[in-house]
Amino acid sequence: MIKRTLILMVVVIPLLISFKGTFGKNDIEKNELFEKPKFSSYFILSEADQKGDPAKGKEIFESSCAACHGPEGKGDGPAAAALEPKPRDLTNAEYVSTLSNEHIFKVISEGGASVGLSPIMAAWGGILSENEIWNVIAFLRKDICKCEFKGK
Ligand code: HEC
Repeated sequence: MIKRTLILMVVVIPLLISFKGTFGKNDIEKNELFEKPKFSSYFILSEADQKGDPAKGKEIFESSCAACHGPEGKGDGPAAAALEPKPRDLTNAEYVSTLSNEHIFKVISEGGASVGLSPIMAAWGGILSENEIWNVIAFLRKDICKCEFKGK
């Protein structure tokens, strides 16, 4: 069993890394991947990465999220002044790196209330497809918080 896990780690991980390299979908340095504290966070990052296209996510963010979260995600959109609680500052890497992609997916898809936050953060599941939500998450990770999930 241990042997099998080892073989998996030795064979599959370099494969995944070279796969990323080949397609060059993002500008993450290979070294950064090796510095990840846990394998799990690498896999979670690669999930958002591979499932989502940050350029498409940017368009969705601008049309659906920026009114509240602000064009750069700082929580300062035109609607923010009237809201309580305020939209979260999504550029706060220290905070956003405590949120897993699964959590962010749920918040966007099922709304803030589904994770104990304000219902002002609406459920987008009926409006955005799963694909579109992954695009937004990829954009969030790459350009807004510039961070990955590091654990809670
Ligand atoms: C009507 C205003 C509004 C819109 C539009 C909106 N949000 Fe939010 N969002 C909020 C508010 C308010 C909160 C904070 C809720 C709280 O603190 O209880 C929030 C919180 C969040 C969080 C933080 C979740 C957490 O666990 O801390 C994320 C991520 C998020 N929004 C992403 C998005 C994305 C992506 C979109 C676009 C698809 C979007 N929001 C659209 C108001 C909005």
